[in-house]
Amino acid sequence: MSVPAGQSAATPKRLVVLISGRGSNLGALIEACEQDRIPAQVVGVISNRPDAAGLGFAEQHHIPHRVLNHRDYPSREAFDADLATAIEDYAPDLVILAGFMRILTPGFVDRFTGRMLNIHPSLLPKYRGLDTHARALADGEPEHGASVHFVTPELDGGPVIMQARVPVAPDDTPETLAARVQRAEHRLYPEVVRRVCSGEIQWSGRILQADGSPLEAPLQLDEDTHDVSGPDARSRPPHPVG
Ligand code: GRF
Repeated sequence: MSVPAGQSAATPKRLVVLISGRGSNLGALIEACEQDRIPAQVVGVISNRPDAAGLGFAEQHHIPHRVLNHRDYPSREAFDADLATAIEDYAPDLVILAGFMRILTPGFVDRFTGRMLNIHPSLLPKYRGLDTHARALADGEPEHGASVHFVTPELDGGPVIMQARVPVAPDDTPETLAARVQRAEHRLYPEVVRRVCSGEIQWSGRILQADGSPLEAPLQLDEDTHDVSGPDARSRPPHPVG
C-alpha cells in the first residue's frame, strides 16, 4: 500500500504475544519491531505461567504484560474465555503464539481466525506435537526446521505460511539441533509477521494467499529471501539473530 503525499506512514500494527517460557522468539520480535523491520509494535505480552523467563523481555522493553495462570481456572473453556478478554483489552491486529504451551479450545481459536499465528519447531506436516527434535533425529532426517502457520483448532494443523530449514549434523543431539532450529526461528518469525502485517499474506479461514494469489506450498525463508541457506549452511558464518 503506498502512502499518499503529505500523509504519514500507516499506523503500526498491534501485536499481542503469548508465551509460556523462555520467550526468545518474543525477544526477536520486539527487536525487529524496534528496528523498524516490522511495521508493528508489541503492545502486550501474556503468559500462562508466572515464572516465564520471557516476561523479563516485556519488563526490559516497558511493554505491558500480564500473567493469566491456567491453574487458577476450573476448565479450559473458563481459562480461554478470560484469555480472549485479556487479549482483546490490548486491541491487537495480530495474536502471536510464541512457545505458548496450551491446547486451545475451538471457540477461542475461531474468535481469532486469520489473525493468530504460531511457530512450531518442525517442517510441518512432519512432527506435530512435542519432542520434535528427538523424533527427527531418531528418524535419521537429513534436515529439520521450523514452520509458521495460522492457527486452527487442529493442533499444529493450520495453513503453513513459511518454513526455515536447517541441516542435521551427524553428531547432533536434540539440544544442538534445537539450538540451530531456534536461531532460524528468530529470523523466520519476524519475516512472516512482517508479511502478514503488510497485508502480503492473508488468510480468512479459506484460501491462504500471498500477494493476492493462492499459496500452493509454504514459502521457504532462505530461498525466498536469498539469505543464509542450504545444506552447506553449517560452514558459513552464523547469521545474526533477530
Ligand atoms: C520454539 O522452539 C517454538 O518453535 C515452540 O516453542 C519454542 C519457544 O521458544 N513453539 P521461546 O520461548 O520463544 O524461546
